[in-house]
Amino acid sequence: LIGQKAQKEGFKVYAVGGFVRDLLLGVPNHDIDIVVEQDAISFARKIVKYLGGQIKEYQKFGTATITLKDGMKIDFATARMEFYPFPAAMPEVEETTIKHDLYRRDFTINTLAFRLNSDKFGDFLDFFEGSKDLEQGSIKVLYNLSFVEDPTRIFRAFRFESRYSFHMDDSTMGFLLNALENNVMQKLSGTRIFEEFQAIVLEPNPSVILIRALELGVLDNIFGKCSNPQQLKQNFKHTMDSIVCLKEKGILEKKDFILVYLLVIINSYPKKVFEIILKDFNLDKGSRIIIRNFFDVGLERIEKLKSNKHLDPSEIYDSLNGLSVHSLCAMMAIADNDLLKNRIFLYLEELHKVDVEITGNDLKEMGIKPGPVYSKIISRLRQQKLNGEIHTKDDELNYIKS
Ligand code: CTP
Repeated sequence: LIGQKAQKEGFKVYAVGGFVRDLLLGVPNHDIDIVVEQDAISFARKIVKYLGGQIKEYQKFGTATITLKDGMKIDFATARMEFYPFPAAMPEVEETTIKHDLYRRDFTINTLAFRLNSDKFGDFLDFFEGSKDLEQGSIKVLYNLSFVEDPTRIFRAFRFESRYSFHMDDSTMGFLLNALENNVMQKLSGTRIFEEFQAIVLEPNPSVILIRALELGVLDNIFGKCSNPQQLKQNFKHTMDSIVCLKEKGILEKKDFILVYLLVIINSYPKKVFEIILKDFNLDKGSRIIIRNFFDVGLERIEKLKSNKHLDPSEIYDSLNGLSVHSLCAMMAIADNDLLKNRIFLYLEELHKVDVEITGNDLKEMGIKPGPVYSKIISRLRQQKLNGEIHTKDDELNYIKS
Protein backbone atom coordinates (compact mmCIF):
# COMPACT_ATOMS: atom_id res chain seq x y z
CA LEU A 1 0.00 0.00 0.00
CA ILE A 2 2.80 2.40 0.89
CA GLY A 3 4.55 1.56 -2.40
CA GLN A 4 1.40 2.23 -4.42
CA LYS A 5 0.88 5.53 -2.70
CA ALA A 6 4.56 6.48 -3.26
CA GLN A 7 4.27 5.64 -6.94
CA LYS A 8 1.13 7.69 -7.31
CA GLU A 9 2.50 10.71 -5.45
CA GLY A 10 5.96 10.64 -7.06
CA PHE A 11 8.10 9.62 -4.04
CA LYS A 12 10.91 7.06 -4.07
CA VAL A 13 10.66 4.92 -0.95
CA TYR A 14 12.60 2.00 0.56
CA ALA A 15 12.22 -0.35 3.49
CA VAL A 16 15.58 -0.34 5.30
CA GLY A 17 17.52 -1.10 8.46
CA GLY A 18 16.43 -3.43 11.24
CA PHE A 19 13.17 -4.28 9.52
CA VAL A 20 14.92 -5.72 6.44
CA ARG A 21 17.62 -7.38 8.55
CA ASP A 22 15.04 -9.17 10.68
CA LEU A 23 12.89 -10.06 7.68
CA LEU A 24 15.86 -11.86 6.13
CA LEU A 25 16.70 -13.53 9.44
CA GLY A 26 13.09 -14.62 9.87
CA VAL A 27 12.84 -12.77 13.19
CA PRO A 28 9.72 -10.72 14.04
CA ASN A 29 10.20 -6.94 14.05
CA HIS A 30 7.20 -4.71 14.56
CA ASP A 31 8.83 -1.40 13.60
CA ILE A 32 9.18 -0.58 9.92
CA ASP A 33 11.93 1.82 8.85
CA ILE A 34 11.24 3.65 5.62
CA VAL A 35 13.62 5.96 3.80
CA VAL A 36 12.13 8.49 1.40
CA GLU A 37 14.36 10.11 -1.22
CA GLN A 38 12.33 13.29 -0.97
CA ASP A 39 10.80 14.93 2.07
CA ALA A 40 9.77 12.13 4.43
CA ILE A 41 7.44 14.30 6.50
CA SER A 42 5.21 15.22 3.55
CA PHE A 43 5.11 11.59 2.51
CA ALA A 44 4.23 10.44 6.04
CA ARG A 45 1.37 12.98 6.12
CA LYS A 46 -0.09 11.43 3.00
CA ILE A 47 0.29 7.92 4.42
CA VAL A 48 -1.38 8.74 7.73
CA LYS A 49 -4.41 10.03 5.85
CA TYR A 50 -4.47 6.76 4.00
CA LEU A 51 -3.74 4.26 6.81
CA GLY A 52 -4.99 6.16 9.85
CA GLY A 53 -3.11 6.15 13.17
CA GLN A 54 -1.14 8.90 14.92
CA ILE A 55 1.67 10.87 13.34
CA LYS A 56 4.58 12.52 15.16
CA GLU A 57 6.82 14.83 13.16
CA TYR A 58 10.43 15.78 13.89
CA GLN A 59 11.10 18.78 11.62
CA LYS A 60 14.70 19.17 12.75
CA PHE A 61 15.61 15.67 11.61
CA GLY A 62 13.26 15.42 8.62
CA THR A 63 11.63 12.34 10.15
CA ALA A 64 8.14 11.25 11.19
CA THR A 65 6.67 8.26 12.98
CA ILE A 66 3.22 6.85 12.42
CA THR A 67 1.81 4.63 15.14
CA LEU A 68 -0.99 2.47 13.79
CA LYS A 69 -4.02 1.44 15.81
CA ASP A 70 -2.57 -2.06 16.44
CA GLY A 71 0.57 -0.47 17.97
CA MET A 72 2.78 -1.11 14.94
CA LYS A 73 5.19 1.76 14.19
CA ILE A 74 6.37 3.07 10.85
CA ASP A 75 9.37 5.41 10.88
CA PHE A 76 9.89 7.67 7.87
CA ALA A 77 13.28 9.32 7.31
CA THR A 78 14.44 11.59 4.53
CA ALA A 79 17.40 9.99 2.70
CA ARG A 80 20.36 11.83 4.11
CA MET A 81 24.04 12.07 4.59
CA GLU A 82 25.30 13.14 7.98
CA PHE A 83 28.24 15.32 8.79
CA TYR A 84 29.58 15.08 12.28
CA PRO A 85 31.19 18.42 13.08
CA PHE A 86 32.60 16.93 16.28
CA PRO A 87 32.32 13.46 17.81
CA ALA A 88 29.00 12.50 19.40
CA ALA A 89 27.29 15.69 18.31
CA MET A 90 23.80 15.57 16.87
CA PRO A 91 24.01 15.10 13.09
CA GLU A 92 23.38 17.88 10.60
CA VAL A 93 21.17 16.65 7.83
CA GLU A 94 21.50 17.12 4.10
CA GLU A 95 19.26 15.45 1.53
CA THR A 96 20.99 12.90 -0.67
CA THR A 97 20.48 9.49 -2.26
CA ILE A 98 19.65 6.12 -0.75
CA LYS A 99 23.20 4.81 -1.16
CA HIS A 100 24.62 7.66 0.88
CA ASP A 101 21.91 7.16 3.40
CA LEU A 102 22.78 3.50 3.79
CA TYR A 103 26.51 4.20 3.96
CA ARG A 104 26.12 6.43 7.02
CA ARG A 105 24.58 3.59 9.02
CA ASP A 106 26.10 1.59 11.85
CA PHE A 107 26.79 -1.90 10.47
CA THR A 108 26.67 -3.58 7.06
CA ILE A 109 23.88 -5.89 8.28
CA ASN A 110 21.73 -2.78 8.69
CA THR A 111 22.38 -1.39 5.19
CA LEU A 112 20.05 -3.71 3.29
CA ALA A 113 17.00 -2.21 1.61
CA PHE A 114 13.95 -3.13 -0.45
CA ARG A 115 12.45 -0.77 -2.95
CA LEU A 116 8.76 -0.28 -2.14
CA ASN A 117 7.51 1.69 -5.19
CA SER A 118 5.04 -0.43 -7.06
CA ASP A 119 6.98 -0.24 -10.35
CA LYS A 120 10.05 -1.84 -8.79
CA PHE A 121 8.52 -3.39 -5.68
CA GLY A 122 10.87 -5.79 -3.90
CA ASP A 123 14.10 -4.76 -5.69
CA PHE A 124 16.80 -5.67 -3.22
CA LEU A 125 19.64 -3.21 -2.56
CA ASP A 126 22.84 -4.53 -1.05
CA PHE A 127 25.65 -2.02 -1.70
CA PHE A 128 27.97 -3.08 1.13
CA GLU A 129 27.82 -6.90 1.24
CA GLY A 130 25.32 -6.78 4.08
CA SER A 131 23.60 -10.03 3.12
CA LYS A 132 26.92 -11.90 3.11
CA ASP A 133 27.67 -10.56 6.62
CA LEU A 134 24.18 -11.46 7.72
CA GLU A 135 24.73 -15.02 6.55
CA GLN A 136 28.13 -15.22 8.23
CA GLY A 137 26.95 -13.55 11.42
CA SER A 138 29.52 -10.81 11.06
CA ILE A 139 29.11 -7.33 12.51
CA LYS A 140 31.12 -4.82 10.52
CA VAL A 141 31.20 -1.05 10.55
CA LEU A 142 31.21 0.78 7.24
CA TYR A 143 34.00 3.24 8.03
CA ASN A 144 36.81 3.55 10.57
CA LEU A 145 35.37 6.41 12.59
CA SER A 146 31.87 4.96 12.95
CA PHE A 147 32.21 4.40 16.72
CA VAL A 148 33.88 7.77 17.24
CA GLU A 149 31.08 9.56 15.43
CA ASP A 150 28.42 7.67 17.31
CA PRO A 151 29.65 5.84 20.43
CA THR A 152 26.16 4.42 21.11
CA ARG A 153 27.01 2.03 18.26
CA ILE A 154 29.37 0.26 20.66
CA PHE A 155 26.37 -0.83 22.71
CA ARG A 156 24.45 -1.64 19.55
CA ALA A 157 27.27 -3.94 18.41
CA PHE A 158 27.10 -5.80 21.74
CA ARG A 159 23.32 -6.03 21.52
CA PHE A 160 23.39 -7.55 18.03
CA GLU A 161 26.19 -9.93 19.02
CA SER A 162 24.18 -11.21 21.92
CA ARG A 163 20.75 -11.18 20.27
CA TYR A 164 21.74 -13.10 17.14
CA SER A 165 24.93 -14.84 18.36
CA PHE A 166 26.92 -12.78 15.86
CA HIS A 167 30.49 -11.48 16.19
CA MET A 168 32.30 -8.29 15.36
CA ASP A 169 35.02 -8.86 12.78
CA ASP A 170 38.64 -8.12 13.76
CA SER A 171 38.88 -4.71 12.14
CA THR A 172 35.58 -3.56 13.68
CA MET A 173 36.84 -4.71 17.07
CA GLY A 174 40.05 -2.77 16.42
CA PHE A 175 38.07 0.40 15.65
CA LEU A 176 36.03 -0.11 18.78
CA LEU A 177 39.10 -0.45 21.00
CA ASN A 178 40.64 2.52 19.32
CA ALA A 179 37.56 4.62 20.00
CA LEU A 180 37.66 3.55 23.65
CA GLU A 181 41.31 4.56 23.92
CA ASN A 182 40.12 8.00 22.91
CA ASN A 183 37.52 7.90 25.70
CA VAL A 184 34.56 8.26 23.35
CA MET A 185 32.03 7.20 25.95
CA GLN A 186 32.85 10.34 27.92
CA LYS A 187 31.30 12.35 25.11
CA LEU A 188 27.86 10.82 25.51
CA SER A 189 25.31 12.56 27.69
CA GLY A 190 23.86 10.68 30.64
CA THR A 191 20.49 10.65 28.89
CA ARG A 192 21.88 8.84 25.87
CA ILE A 193 23.76 6.33 27.99
CA PHE A 194 20.58 5.71 29.95
CA GLU A 195 18.64 5.14 26.71
CA GLU A 196 21.23 2.60 25.62
CA PHE A 197 21.01 0.81 28.97
CA GLN A 198 17.26 0.72 28.60
CA ALA A 199 17.62 -0.94 25.22
CA ILE A 200 20.14 -3.42 26.64
CA VAL A 201 17.95 -4.58 29.51
CA LEU A 202 15.13 -5.37 27.08
CA GLU A 203 17.35 -7.83 25.19
CA PRO A 204 16.94 -11.52 26.00
CA ASN A 205 20.20 -11.63 27.97
CA PRO A 206 21.23 -8.21 29.29
CA SER A 207 23.92 -9.65 31.57
CA VAL A 208 25.93 -11.09 28.68
CA ILE A 209 25.92 -7.65 27.03
CA LEU A 210 26.95 -5.85 30.21
CA ILE A 211 29.70 -8.38 30.90
CA ARG A 212 31.04 -7.76 27.39
CA ALA A 213 30.88 -4.01 28.05
CA LEU A 214 32.74 -4.52 31.33
CA GLU A 215 35.41 -6.80 29.87
CA LEU A 216 36.18 -4.48 26.97
CA GLY A 217 36.41 -1.46 29.27
CA VAL A 218 33.25 0.32 28.10
CA LEU A 219 31.75 0.61 31.58
CA ASP A 220 35.04 1.89 33.03
CA ASN A 221 35.16 4.39 30.18
CA ILE A 222 31.83 5.75 31.38
CA PHE A 223 32.05 5.38 35.14
CA GLY A 224 35.72 5.30 36.11
CA LYS A 225 37.50 2.31 37.65
CA CYS A 226 35.40 -0.64 38.76
CA SER A 227 36.31 -1.65 42.32
CA ASN A 228 36.19 -5.40 41.61
CA PRO A 229 35.53 -6.39 37.97
CA GLN A 230 35.47 -10.14 38.71
CA GLN A 231 32.86 -9.59 41.39
CA LEU A 232 30.77 -7.35 39.13
CA LYS A 233 30.89 -10.00 36.41
CA GLN A 234 29.56 -12.54 38.89
CA ASN A 235 26.95 -10.06 40.07
CA PHE A 236 25.74 -9.52 36.50
CA LYS A 237 25.31 -13.29 36.13
CA HIS A 238 23.39 -13.45 39.41
CA THR A 239 21.28 -10.47 38.32
CA MET A 240 20.12 -12.43 35.33
CA ASP A 241 19.18 -15.39 37.57
CA SER A 242 17.32 -13.13 39.97
CA ILE A 243 15.35 -11.17 37.39
CA VAL A 244 14.36 -14.34 35.55
CA CYS A 245 13.24 -15.97 38.78
CA LEU A 246 11.28 -12.95 40.04
CA LYS A 247 9.73 -12.31 36.63
CA GLU A 248 8.52 -15.89 36.40
CA LYS A 249 6.89 -15.48 39.80
CA GLY A 250 5.16 -12.29 38.61
CA ILE A 251 7.04 -10.25 41.23
CA LEU A 252 9.14 -8.19 38.79
CA GLU A 253 8.26 -6.75 35.38
CA LYS A 254 10.52 -6.07 32.42
CA LYS A 255 10.26 -2.33 32.98
CA ASP A 256 11.81 -2.86 36.43
CA PHE A 257 15.01 -4.47 35.10
CA ILE A 258 16.77 -1.19 34.36
CA LEU A 259 16.75 -0.09 37.96
CA VAL A 260 17.99 -3.45 39.21
CA TYR A 261 20.96 -3.30 36.83
CA LEU A 262 21.73 0.32 37.74
CA LEU A 263 21.86 -0.59 41.43
CA VAL A 264 24.21 -3.48 40.70
CA ILE A 265 26.46 -1.21 38.62
CA ILE A 266 26.53 1.68 41.10
CA ASN A 267 27.45 -0.77 43.84
CA SER A 268 30.71 -1.62 42.03
CA TYR A 269 31.85 1.84 41.03
CA PRO A 270 33.30 4.85 42.89
CA LYS A 271 30.91 6.85 45.02
CA LYS A 272 30.71 9.67 42.47
CA VAL A 273 28.89 7.34 40.03
CA PHE A 274 25.95 7.31 42.41
CA GLU A 275 25.68 11.10 42.10
CA ILE A 276 26.31 11.10 38.34
CA ILE A 277 23.53 8.60 37.71
CA LEU A 278 21.12 10.49 39.95
CA LYS A 279 21.97 13.80 38.29
CA ASP A 280 22.53 13.00 34.62
CA PHE A 281 20.53 9.89 33.79
CA ASN A 282 17.18 11.58 33.42
CA LEU A 283 15.59 9.21 35.93
CA ASP A 284 12.11 9.85 37.25
CA LYS A 285 11.70 10.90 40.87
CA GLY A 286 10.54 7.46 42.03
CA SER A 287 13.64 5.79 40.60
CA ARG A 288 15.93 8.34 42.23
CA ILE A 289 14.30 7.71 45.60
CA ILE A 290 14.73 3.95 45.20
CA ILE A 291 18.43 4.33 44.37
CA ARG A 292 19.05 6.64 47.33
CA ASN A 293 17.15 4.38 49.67
CA PHE A 294 19.11 1.33 48.54
CA PHE A 295 22.46 2.89 49.41
CA ASP A 296 21.33 4.97 52.42
CA VAL A 297 19.48 2.27 54.33
CA GLY A 298 18.99 -0.86 52.22
CA LEU A 299 22.51 -2.28 52.32
CA GLU A 300 22.72 -1.78 56.08
CA ARG A 301 19.32 -3.31 56.74
CA ILE A 302 20.29 -6.62 55.17
CA GLU A 303 23.45 -7.13 57.25
CA LYS A 304 21.45 -8.88 59.96
CA LEU A 305 19.91 -11.24 57.42
CA LYS A 306 23.29 -12.64 56.45
CA SER A 307 23.98 -14.20 59.84
CA ASN A 308 23.34 -17.87 60.52
CA LYS A 309 21.35 -16.97 63.65
CA HIS A 310 17.73 -18.11 63.57
CA LEU A 311 15.35 -15.31 62.63
CA ASP A 312 11.58 -15.31 63.00
CA PRO A 313 9.66 -14.46 59.83
CA SER A 314 8.59 -11.20 61.51
CA GLU A 315 12.25 -10.19 61.95
CA ILE A 316 12.89 -10.84 58.26
CA TYR A 317 9.80 -8.80 57.47
CA ASP A 318 10.97 -5.89 59.61
CA SER A 319 14.38 -5.83 57.92
CA LEU A 320 13.03 -5.80 54.39
CA ASN A 321 9.77 -3.94 54.71
CA GLY A 322 9.86 -0.62 52.83
CA LEU A 323 12.53 -1.67 50.34
CA SER A 324 11.44 -1.77 46.72
CA VAL A 325 11.29 -4.95 44.70
CA HIS A 326 14.16 -3.58 42.53
CA SER A 327 16.31 -3.13 45.61
CA LEU A 328 15.53 -6.60 46.87
CA CYS A 329 16.28 -8.13 43.48
CA ALA A 330 19.60 -6.23 43.31
CA MET A 331 20.41 -7.44 46.84
CA MET A 332 19.81 -11.03 45.76
CA ALA A 333 22.18 -10.41 42.86
CA ILE A 334 25.02 -8.91 44.87
CA ALA A 335 24.65 -11.11 47.95
CA ASP A 336 27.30 -13.78 48.07
CA ASN A 337 25.15 -15.58 50.58
CA ASP A 338 22.47 -18.18 49.93
CA LEU A 339 20.79 -17.68 53.30
CA LEU A 340 20.28 -14.00 52.55
CA LYS A 341 18.92 -14.79 49.09
CA ASN A 342 16.49 -17.32 50.51
CA ARG A 343 15.29 -14.87 53.14
CA ILE A 344 14.71 -12.14 50.57
CA PHE A 345 12.90 -14.61 48.39
CA LEU A 346 10.71 -15.72 51.30
CA TYR A 347 9.84 -12.08 51.96
CA LEU A 348 8.97 -11.38 48.32
CA GLU A 349 7.02 -14.54 47.79
CA GLU A 350 5.13 -14.78 51.08
CA LEU A 351 5.87 -12.46 53.95
CA HIS A 352 5.11 -9.12 52.34
CA LYS A 353 1.62 -10.35 51.46
CA VAL A 354 0.73 -11.12 55.06
CA ASP A 355 -1.84 -8.59 56.14
CA VAL A 356 -3.99 -7.95 59.14
CA GLU A 357 -7.72 -8.28 58.52
CA ILE A 358 -9.24 -6.23 61.31
CA THR A 359 -9.76 -2.54 60.61
CA GLY A 360 -9.89 0.66 62.57
CA ASN A 361 -13.66 0.31 62.70
CA ASP A 362 -13.36 -3.12 64.32
CA LEU A 363 -11.09 -1.61 66.97
CA LYS A 364 -13.54 1.24 67.53
CA GLU A 365 -16.39 -1.22 67.96
CA MET A 366 -14.29 -3.01 70.55
CA GLY A 367 -14.23 0.29 72.46
CA ILE A 368 -10.56 1.09 71.87
CA LYS A 369 -10.00 4.83 71.59
CA PRO A 370 -8.42 5.89 68.26
CA GLY A 371 -4.76 6.98 68.47
CA PRO A 372 -1.20 5.74 67.96
CA VAL A 373 -2.20 2.57 69.79
CA TYR A 374 -4.01 1.41 66.63
CA SER A 375 -0.81 1.08 64.60
CA LYS A 376 0.87 -0.64 67.55
CA ILE A 377 -1.96 -3.19 67.66
CA ILE A 378 -1.86 -3.74 63.90
CA SER A 379 1.86 -4.24 63.81
CA ARG A 380 1.70 -6.63 66.80
CA LEU A 381 -1.01 -8.61 65.04
CA ARG A 382 1.07 -8.75 61.86
CA GLN A 383 4.01 -10.02 63.86
CA GLN A 384 1.87 -12.80 65.33
CA LYS A 385 0.50 -13.64 61.92
CA LEU A 386 3.91 -13.69 60.25
CA ASN A 387 5.20 -16.05 62.91
CA GLY A 388 2.22 -18.36 62.45
CA GLU A 389 0.78 -17.77 65.95
CA ILE A 390 -2.56 -16.59 64.60
CA HIS A 391 -4.30 -17.09 61.24
CA THR A 392 -7.86 -15.80 60.87
CA LYS A 393 -9.73 -12.60 61.67
CA ASP A 394 -11.32 -14.34 64.68
CA ASP A 395 -7.80 -15.21 65.91
CA GLU A 396 -6.92 -11.52 65.59
CA LEU A 397 -9.97 -10.44 67.61
CA ASN A 398 -9.30 -13.05 70.28
CA TYR A 399 -5.66 -12.04 70.47
CA ILE A 400 -6.63 -8.42 71.13
CA LYS A 401 -9.18 -9.43 73.77
CA SER A 402 -6.60 -11.60 75.51
N1 CTP B 1 21.19 3.36 13.12
C1 CTP B 1 22.53 3.72 13.02
N2 CTP B 1 23.21 4.16 14.12
C2 CTP B 1 22.59 4.25 15.32
C3 CTP B 1 21.22 3.89 15.44
C4 CTP B 1 20.56 3.44 14.31
O1 CTP B 1 23.09 3.63 11.95
N3 CTP B 1 23.25 4.69 16.38
C5 CTP B 1 20.48 2.89 11.92
C6 CTP B 1 20.61 1.42 11.65
O2 CTP B 1 20.68 1.24 10.26
C7 CTP B 1 19.32 0.84 12.15
C8 CTP B 1 18.33 1.97 11.86
O3 CTP B 1 19.10 3.17 12.03
O4 CTP B 1 18.98 -0.35 11.49
C9 CTP B 1 17.11 1.98 12.75
O5 CTP B 1 17.49 2.16 14.09
P1 CTP B 1 16.77 1.39 15.28
O6 CTP B 1 15.34 1.27 15.02
O7 CTP B 1 17.27 1.99 16.56
O8 CTP B 1 17.53 0.02 15.20
P2 CTP B 1 17.20 -1.43 14.68
O9 CTP B 1 18.34 -1.81 13.78
O10 CTP B 1 15.84 -1.59 14.18
O11 CTP B 1 17.45 -2.21 16.03
P3 CTP B 1 16.43 -2.84 17.08
O12 CTP B 1 16.07 -4.16 16.47
O13 CTP B 1 17.24 -2.98 18.31
O14 CTP B 1 15.31 -1.86 17.19
